[in-house]
Amino acid sequence: MGWNSWNSFANIVNSQIIQQQARTLAANGMKEAGYEYVVIDEGWWLGERDTAGNIVVNAKQWPALQSGQKDGDMANIAAYIHSLGLKAGIYTDAGKDGCSMYPDSGPKYLNSGSEGHFDQDFLQFSKWGFDYVKVDWCGGAKEKLSGAVQYAQVARAIQKAEKTTGRKLYFSICEWGSQNPWFWAPGVGEIESTIWRTGGDIIPPVVETLHDAEHEKRVITSKNVLESFDAGWHPEAQHTGYFNDLDMMVMGMRGMTDALDRTHMGLWVISSAPLMVGSDLTRLSPTALSLLTNEEALAIHNDPYGLQPIKVDEPSPGIQIWVKPMTIAGRRAVAILNRTGVATQVKVDWEKLGLISAPKSLRDVWNRRDIALVNSTVSVPAHDLELMVVDGEDKPPAEYTASQNNITGIQALHGPTFARLHYANTSGIVATLRMKNTSGLSTAVALPPTAGSETGTVGLILPNGTADLSFEGRSAAIRTLDVYSW
Ligand code: GLA
Repeated sequence: MGWNSWNSFANIVNSQIIQQQARTLAANGMKEAGYEYVVIDEGWWLGERDTAGNIVVNAKQWPALQSGQKDGDMANIAAYIHSLGLKAGIYTDAGKDGCSMYPDSGPKYLNSGSEGHFDQDFLQFSKWGFDYVKVDWCGGAKEKLSGAVQYAQVARAIQKAEKTTGRKLYFSICEWGSQNPWFWAPGVGEIESTIWRTGGDIIPPVVETLHDAEHEKRVITSKNVLESFDAGWHPEAQHTGYFNDLDMMVMGMRGMTDALDRTHMGLWVISSAPLMVGSDLTRLSPTALSLLTNEEALAIHNDPYGLQPIKVDEPSPGIQIWVKPMTIAGRRAVAILNRTGVATQVKVDWEKLGLISAPKSLRDVWNRRDIALVNSTVSVPAHDLELMVVDGEDKPPAEYTASQNNITGIQALHGPTFARLHYANTSGIVATLRMKNTSGLSTAVALPPTAGSETGTVGLILPNGTADLSFEGRSAAIRTLDVYSW
């Protein structure tokens, strides 16, 4: 959770902008709500290196901010962000060239990627004090590189840097879903937590202070928001620590209505997608800010299983019911999405939620109030989304016991299916195991350490057709799998 400079500032980013946004984040309630990263995206560096290959930045863009600091040192801004109790993020490319000013004004700058300098650059980012790095793919795509290979090298450089400085550098992969990263990004380089972008940019940046014709015509529509959500649905790859990234948020930006802000927030939280807000925080509408800081919505987002939702029903075209399995037994987050331009009354079929009977309680998340269970009809305005938390009793799962980290004979699944995996991991660190099924899925599960004879549990969504599962990597013992058919 945090803020990223690209959507609203593109390549005009500088120290003043970052300071102002960081101050706003620290003061407007977002920091208290859990938004912690302030990420400097493209435009901070124009590809210049000194004779030793060290990155050289513009001293005016990144001046000293207090006595004892030097102009042109990125440690200045990282220290400023830290002084507000926030974490700092930076950006590079996995190829030789960065995206370079795309598609905004200004000349093309080459060589603003890190290829050939991975160890040097990631160590430098860490030494400057950055806690997060987003690694883009413009240069990689131009050179037709393999994402899996290139990002594994980046992961290793990050781990080396972390060892040297003792500072965690969170890895954000950004190759727009071009090489199906949901198959290789979870666990790339054995990293225990990663996000990977699943699609192109939600919008080209909308820089409100550049009053040029190009920026003036950029307006966000529901299509932008829905396409990013649709491109990002890869639930089998997402579990503890590994997340599909639906892109930076555009809450409250030009074109967004209150209904669209609700849709955007609802889809991102029910997906446990990174909440990296790309809006100019000084211009956020009151609705956008209150949605972003809605504690009950954020509790859905921060559910420890971190799963994506399953679409359980589409009672009429464009009216969809998405259900997220939650860590607490019998609890679901439910989004009723209206993709159409017409307000509608939706009848919710509770059977489809995998509960034994009607729910015991219903919570309206936007209005933070309980809803009486008089009937099961919910009204949803055009292009809007209703978000609820439902509590009830789970239908009993089918239970499978693992033998040597293999689970076989899982009964036919009817679509993507929620499961709880029970394990032991006494290694003291997160165990990253490869999980494979018979229909060719291969992904990673991260299993946090357990103490003594304790059993740990993570949530998974098994793809349709899963019959056998094998877990490679012996640092954890798989015990049982509970499969819930809804
Ligand atoms: C790509 C990324 C964006 C942003 C820009 C910067 O398009 O997907 O998020 O980082 O590059 O040029």
